[in-house]
Order: sequence, then structure tokens, then C-alpha cells
Amino acid sequence: MHVINPADYRHIVFFTGAGMSAESGIPTYRGKGGTWSAYNWEEYACQEAFDRDPEKVLSFHEMRRRAVLACEPHAGHYTIARVQRGHPHVTVVTQNIDGMHQRAGCTQALELHGSLWRLRCSLHGAVEDLGETYRSVTCSECGQWLRPDIIWFGDMLDPEVTRMSIAAIAECDLFVSIGTSGVVWPAAGYPEIARNNGAYCIEINPEASPLSHLYDEHLRHPAGTALPSLFDTGQ
Ligand code: APR
Repeated sequence: MHVINPADYRHIVFFTGAGMSAESGIPTYRGKGGTWSAYNWEEYACQEAFDRDPEKVLSFHEMRRRAVLACEPHAGHYTIARVQRGHPHVTVVTQNIDGMHQRAGCTQALELHGSLWRLRCSLHGAVEDLGETYRSVTCSECGQWLRPDIIWFGDMLDPEVTRMSIAAIAECDLFVSIGTSGVVWPAAGYPEIARNNGAYCIEINPEASPLSHLYDEHLRHPAGTALPSLFDTGQ
């Protein structure tokens, strides 16, 4: 595996999915032991389910918060944070809602699919709530239920987060994708944007994905070992 010197690149984008946090003990969504094989998303992760039974949906997400709080970022998360600290232009675009990049020290991460650590009122917007259990699940302004500030199936992505993500990916010269199955759109369309704009594209995933043909290099290793080896920042 060749070692990358971040200084050789003008703008680096790390594009991460659930596989990025697998070694921290956070289950991926698909595949063996995936969240969606244990839980039917139509009952726990869409607006209709929330309208039907908000407490059921909120307790599912609370369970996930507790599970994430019991986990720690791994060497791969810390490598990305280190590269970001040591380089003028590194953008993290993540599909993950676990906040692990920030816990590892990343100062910037575009959260395409929202965050477990925010709730939102459809009238009054997002409320940050970092507690193991929710501080409040009703809006202090209007009293209606606060839903997790997560992009569920059927939801539109945040237009500003999308705009910033695509802008970064379209102009980066190194694109590193880690731990995504590449089956959920519109995020699955992002690697092609990087490729079409001439970035050098690397896929880190123990398994091939439907997008593997888009990459110049494939590291079939777990993120926690591939990233520290690939970016030997010598620290
Ligand atoms: N290191 C790197 N990649 C890994 C590791 C690891 N240790 N373990 C698993 N993977 C890979 C798997 O091979 C798989 O390709 O991570 C990928 C995880 O795929 P998914 O579970 O489909 O997760 P993701 O691609 O992030 O899902 C996209 O779907 O359910 C929605 O909103 C949710 O953001 C999520 C979106």
C-alpha cells in the first residue's frame, strides 16, 4: 500500500459511511448484523412511523444514542482528524449520524444524513441535545413533538449541506471513500462527481461495492487499519 503525503494534494475529501464506524462497535445498516436487518425502517425511521407513534421512534433513536456513547472513535477516525488539522483544505462529507468524526477531533464534518445529537421541530428548527437520554422531546415554543434531526427514508437532504458537499467534491483532487455500500441516493452519486472532476479516487472497503469501478485504487481492508497506513502523518 503506498503512503499518501497530504501536502501533495490541494483539497482532500473524506466521504464516509457506516463502515467507517464498524470497528468502534456501531453496526452498519446492511449486511450481517445490520440495523435494517434487525429493525424495519418503516416502523422506526420515516416520517409516517413518527406520526403514527413518536415515542416508539424516539426510544429507538435513544437506544442508538446510548449505544454510540458506549463506543469510542478508532485509529481511522483519529487519522482523518489529524490529516484535517495538518492540511489547509480537508472536507469530511459523512452519511453517518453518530458524531464520531467530531469526537475524534474533526472541526468540520458535513452531515448529509443529519445527526443523532439533534432533534428538530418542524416549525422552529433544530435543537442540539447531546444527552444520553433526551432532555425534552417537545418543542419549548409550540409544544409539538421534536423529531430526530436525521434524514429518514423519503426525506429530502438539507439543501445547504448538499450544496457545500457537492461543491467540495467537485473541486477536490483527492477523494477517499470509506465504508459505504453505495446504494443510497443521492449520496451514491457523489463518487462519480469526484471522478468526473479528475480527482484521484480511493475506495476503502473490505468488500467491493456497485461503485468500485469509479475508483483508481481499492483498499480491501477495514478503515481502522487502512487509514493510518495510507496517511502515515508521522505523528
Ligand atoms: N471498514 C470499512 N468498510 C467497512 C467496514 C470496515 N471496518 N465494515 C463494513 N464495511 C463496509 C461494508 O462492506 C459496506 O459496504 O461498509 C459498508 C456499509 O454499508 P451500509 O451498511 O449500507 O452503510 P452506508 O453505505 O453508510 O448506508 C448509507 O443508508 O440506511 C441509510 O441513512 C442510512 O447513511 C445510511 C445510508
